[in-house]
Amino acid sequence: MNVVNSGTQPVRIEQDVVLARQTTRKLAQDCGMRLIDLTKLVTAVSELARNTMVYGGGGDMDWQVLDDGARKGVRLTFRDEGPGIPDLKLAMTDGWTSGGGLGLGLTGARRLVEDFELDTEPGKGTRVTIARWT
Ligand SMILES: Nc1ncnc2c1ncn2[C@@H]1O[C@H](COP(=O)(O)OP(=O)(O)OP(=O)(O)O)[C@@H](O)[C@H]1O
Ligand SMILES: [Mg+2]
Repeated sequence: MNVVNSGTQPVRIEQDVVLARQTTRKLAQDCGMRLIDLTKLVTAVSELARNTMVYGGGGDMDWQVLDDGARKGVRLTFRDEGPGIPDLKLAMTDGWTSGGGLGLGLTGARRLVEDFELDTEPGKGTRVTIARWT
């Protein structure tokens, strides 16, 4: 696996969610990702960036452009040092929200990408890594 390019950007305020979407769109376009796949990835980014901001108290998005020889991919990691998710199984249930949301962000994001990994530790924070491939 070759990392072609990488970077980090903050996810702290509303405008950062817009910027995270823009960065993702550009990276996916540069990979030659199909519009439908790009749109799915950008939608997942919206959900995860918003969770990082709202529940995680802000954090960062790490981005990587990957090339495995056959395909290119965009991998994104959303990191925060917020309260973590006490019951991950519950959080990954359609319709469950601790706030006033729809409870569809995490489950929706998982369906929209090819790779999805969530690590969380109560009191320490949350890390969600996603990827889509060309
Ligand atoms: N980064 C995070 N830190 C702490 N808790 C989180 C984090 N991300 C998600 N959660 C918890 O998981 C729950 C489910 O998240 P999910 O995005 O699926 O739904 P939601 O944000 O409540 O509603 P929406 O459908 O509007 O996204 C949240 O209500 C919150 O309790
Ligand atoms: Mg959400």
